[in-house]
Parts: sequence; C-alpha cells; structure tokens
Amino acid sequence: MSVDSWSRVVFGGCVCVCLFANVVVAVSSCGAVRDVYQKQVGGLPEDVPLSPVSAVLTECSRTPEPSNESSCCSRAMEQTFVQSAQDYLRDSIKKSNHQLKQRINQSLTAFQDHLKLTTRETQAKIADALTLSYKIPKEEHTKVLDVFFGNLRMYLFGETHHTIGDIIDRFFRNLFPLVFDYVIIDPSKSKQMGQNFHGCLLQHYTALEPFGNVPTHLAKKLNYAFQRARVFSETLKVMQMTVDSVNNVTVDDECKKAVSRLQFCSMCGGHNEARPCRGLCLNVMRGCLSRISELSPSWDDLVMNFQNIQMGMFRQHNAQELLSYMDVNITDALLQASEDGPRIYSDVSTI
Ligand SMILES: *[C@@H]1O[C@H](CO)[C@@H](O)[C@H](O)[C@H]1NC(C)=O
Ligand SMILES: *[C@@H]1O[C@H](CO)[C@@H](O)[C@H](O)[C@H]1NC(C)=O
Ligand SMILES: *[C@@H]1O[C@H](CO)[C@@H](O)[C@H](O)[C@H]1NC(C)=O
Ligand SMILES: *[C@@H]1O[C@H](CO)[C@@H](O)[C@H](O)[C@H]1NC(C)=O
Repeated sequence: MSVDSWSRVVFGGCVCVCLFANVVVAVSSCGAVRDVYQKQVGGLPEDVPLSPVSAVLTECSRTPEPSNESSCCSRAMEQTFVQSAQDYLRDSIKKSNHQLKQRINQSLTAFQDHLKLTTRETQAKIADALTLSYKIPKEEHTKVLDVFFGNLRMYLFGETHHTIGDIIDRFFRNLFPLVFDYVIIDPSKSKQMGQNFHGCLLQHYTALEPFGNVPTHLAKKLNYAFQRARVFSETLKVMQMTVDSVNNVTVDDECKKAVSRLQFCSMCGGHNEARPCRGLCLNVMRGCLSRISELSPSWDDLVMNFQNIQMGMFRQHNAQELLSYMDVNITDALLQASEDGPRIYSDVSTI
C-alpha cells in the first residue's frame, strides 16, 4: 500500500467554480438557480427571486464593498451560503479521504486476518503435539493454549500492555503443572498429590527452571519481530484517526465567506455549473486549512516510517515466520523438561 501525501489528501477534492460573483447576469429567469440552490445548499426555493432583481449583496458583491446589483441572489441566500460553507468543506474532504481510509482499513484488516490465521495454525500444531506426543489430554491443555494465543494476538494488535516476556513466562508457568503430571512423572501418581500440589509447583517454578533457558530465548527472539508487527498495526490506527480528525475540521468566518464566494456565488449570475479552477481553489483551501497544512511534513514522515516498517516486515524473522515454527520451540522446551525430569522430580520432593 502507498499512501498519498497529505496535500493530496486534503486538497484532492478541490473542484471549484472559476466564474463567481464578477459576472454580469446573463439570464432572464432564475428558475435553474432554484434547483441548484436547493440541491447544493439545502436552501428554501422561495429565497430565490423568479428573475434577476436589484439587491444589495455583501458576500457575493462584484466589488469589495457591498453593492446594489442585478442578481439572482438575495440576502437570505447569501446567509445560507455562508452557513453551508463548513459542511461543504467537510463533505469535500470526507469524499477525498474516503478512498484513503478504505485503503488503510483494507491493509489493517488483511494484516490482522493473516496473523489470526497464522496464530490459529500454530495453536493447532502445538495442541496436536501436546495431545499426541506428550499424552496430555486435550481438555487439560486447551485453556492454557487459548489464553496464550489470545494474549499473543492482543499484543500484536496493540490491545494489551503486557510484554512478550510476560506473556511467554505466564504460558510456561501455566504449562508446568501439566508437564509435571504427564511428562515428568507417571500420571497415576499425580492424582494422589491433590490440588495444593500444583500451587506449590507454581510457587517454586522460578527456582526449578523446568524448561531451562528456552522461555527466555524464545521471548528474546519473538520480541523484536512482534514489536514491529505491533507498531505496524498501531501506525495504521493512528493514520485512521488522523484522517478522521481532518474530516471534522472547523473553519473560521473568513474562510466560510471565501468558500461561499468560490463555490456558491456563481448562482447569483445564473451560472449554476461548477467549473474546475484549481489554482484559485487551492489558494482558498490552503488559507482555510492552514492548520491542517502544517501537519503535512509530519504526515509525510509518518508515511515514510510506515513504508520502512512495512519493508522490514517482509524480511527474515518476521512475526509470521517465527510463529510458523514456534511449535518446534515449545516441544523443545518439553523435551528439555522431560530429559531433566529426574532432577526436577528430586528437587520437587525436597520442597
Ligand atoms: C438599487 O437600485 C435600484 C435601481 O437599479 C433602486 O430602485 C433601489 O432603490 C436600489 N436599492 C438600494 C438599497 O440602494
Ligand atoms: C474496516 O471497516 C469495517 C467496515 O467499516 C469495520 O467494520 C472494521 O472494523 C474496519 N477494520 C479496521 C481494522 O479498522
Ligand atoms: C525455534 O525453532 C527454530 C526451528 O527449529 C530454530 O531455528 C530457532 O532457533 C528456535 N528458537 C529458539 C528461541 O529456540
Ligand atoms: C466533530 O466536532 C464536533 C464539534 O465541532 C464534535 O461534537 C464531534 O464529536 C466531532 N466528531 C468527531 C468524529 O470527531
């Protein structure tokens, strides 16, 4: 995905009328203006004179001062123009932002869907290994795996404050009692040890170190790649919010008047077709949206950083790749506990 520069985002919808108030009335009826007035600014048809009349106009006057001229506009119409200017600006911005928002949304959705799928596949592989190779009953390990992979997804999508280290540590802690019961000792013995025994095992987990240094290594390895994936998600969300905040821009009175002249005053001359006149339009829009334009360099930086992250995501050792062989790392940890079983069992006997 590439994202347009900020100026294109904001000014992309700049289609304005070139001919505005400085036009001599060239029509004999204002009937066509009525339709346009109703459609474009939601005004009441009765505000529009049936044919050009003499009126003193301020916003749409041909001269910088208010002047008395023949026109299809009335004071009531001018007031409606100014009131509609902000809505008009917001609508134009919203339209040009819509496509950008959709692209951001699609990227985020595709990325998250892909990670969801990968984590589900990995979870299924690990569940199979625990059930088939280590004979831990499915109903015993399902909850432990659900919690672990739920936490990993929340981390990847920026929905938790826990670190990867915490999440991995908690997983191996929760796994330990099951590994002790089914891998280290004969399952028939564990039944006699009672409920409190598991609590006791967990209390001494750190000292027993049943999985050796596998949890620490795994956390280190995953941390960088998972962080990058998380920043990717978060950046897309910030972009969505930024685009949303621009949609809701407020504009000052001067700007509303400028937009009225630019966009609506052509109705006074009976001209009701908008003609694009980008240069003039851009100047007015830049003035109106100067506060947003100041964002432009920051937005461009954000886009560049985003593209760097995105390229990094497809290098080696990205989150998806690490997930794809995480089942091997977890079974390595179980193998280690199994080989170290006699030591762990004798340590446990002394506590
Ligand atoms: C505007 O001009 C017309 C004649 O062109 C005149 O009848 C009318 O009184 C003028 N109105 C004002 C407010 O000066
Ligand atoms: C994308 O848009 C759809 C529909 O508007 C919405 O339901 C979904 O939550 C959005 N996805 C993201 C990741 O923002
Ligand atoms: C996880 O397993 C893969 C594949 O066997 C291996 O290359 C990688 O070094 C392991 N990672 C850790 C932290 O043990
Ligand atoms: C837009 O601004 C108005 C106030 O001007 C506020 O009430 C509204 O909540 C804002 N909407 C969004 C989506 O930010």
